[in-house]
Amino acid sequence: MSILKKRLVSGIQPTGQMHLGNYLGAIQNWVDLQNKYESFLMIADLHSLTTLYEGTSSLKSNKMELALDLLASGIDPEKCCFYFQSDIKEHSELHLILSMLTPIPWLTRVPNYKGKIEELKEKNLDTYGFLGYPVLMAADILLYKAQTVPVGHDQIPHLELTREIARRFNHLYGDVFPIPEEILTKHPVVIGTDGKKMSKSYNNTIPINSSSEDITKLSMKMITDPNRIKRTDPGNPEICPVFSFQKIYNSPDRVQEIETLCKKGEIGCVQCKKEMGSLIGDSLSDFREKRSELKSNKKNVEEILRDGQLKAKKTASETMKEVKNALKL
Ligand code: ADP
Ligand code: TRP
Repeated sequence: MSILKKRLVSGIQPTGQMHLGNYLGAIQNWVDLQNKYESFLMIADLHSLTTLYEGTSSLKSNKMELALDLLASGIDPEKCCFYFQSDIKEHSELHLILSMLTPIPWLTRVPNYKGKIEELKEKNLDTYGFLGYPVLMAADILLYKAQTVPVGHDQIPHLELTREIARRFNHLYGDVFPIPEEILTKHPVVIGTDGKKMSKSYNNTIPINSSSEDITKLSMKMITDPNRIKRTDPGNPEICPVFSFQKIYNSPDRVQEIETLCKKGEIGCVQCKKEMGSLIGDSLSDFREKRSELKSNKKNVEEILRDGQLKAKKTASETMKEVKNALKL
């Protein structure tokens, strides 16, 4: 890895199966940008404890399955540093230090904070750890002095807070941290099968590790323009989740044709869903092949993560030395 390259950090939580929203909204950029940036890409297992602390029985297997999904998506351990967040204790150490200078109102006003508590009512998220979630994320990013953070649209408030925390630290103790910027993909908000943002928490995802048959089934379940009852009713593609996927997976000419046909009530939703499902299924054939190769050699995957841990640890401990010096600790 060249020292001249700018740094990039990102993470994903092992809270369930990785889905097309994660891939199109963030992971695609992880893969594309590995060549351009010195990249630190983590499975944020400590973050997942903020919502799953009461039930961690699947955590280990979720972490491994996610590692397989990410490697099969094109994360290349030769080009980046790929590791589990909890394997680098400096994340927790910097989190603690940053928590000292983060005012509580900065955390309670993060829109995702109250929103998620409301969404996940069945869980008790009235905890110190959940409130501090964005401070942990700031620690993940600042620990590697990243300039760039590829994420989906929902993470923007967390990046804003990271910048505020970095500025406050630099103001109090001297310039240690660069101010990081988010970078979005062409698809910063991918819609789920129910028309809401696709998310592991909403049970509306298309998991990336799905067979073509499963994708067909999920596609058929997808909602369309609710005002279109009969096949001949004129549709409104702009509010249809199926059309949003056509725009991602189909050719521009065919997208235009579907738009016209839908508006005139000349293409049925079932036909449209079948076409979309088969395009998504086909696009994942390389992924499936690579994943099954990786799965047959899990030892190799464990080694990749251990190597990543060693490389990340080096940078993390250098930053912590600087942080402690700046603080006169
Ligand atoms: P989830 O909401 O499914 O739990 P995560 O919070 O683990 O997803 O997100 C991992 C990454 O994927 C983040 O960068 C997030 O912004 C991105 N992401 C998640 N869902 C979507 C979506 N529907 N559209 C675009 N990006 C998304
Ligand atoms: N909070 C992010 C999410 O839920 C995951 C994450 C953890 C992350 N640490 C990070 C993203 C650091 C970017 C940088 O999706």
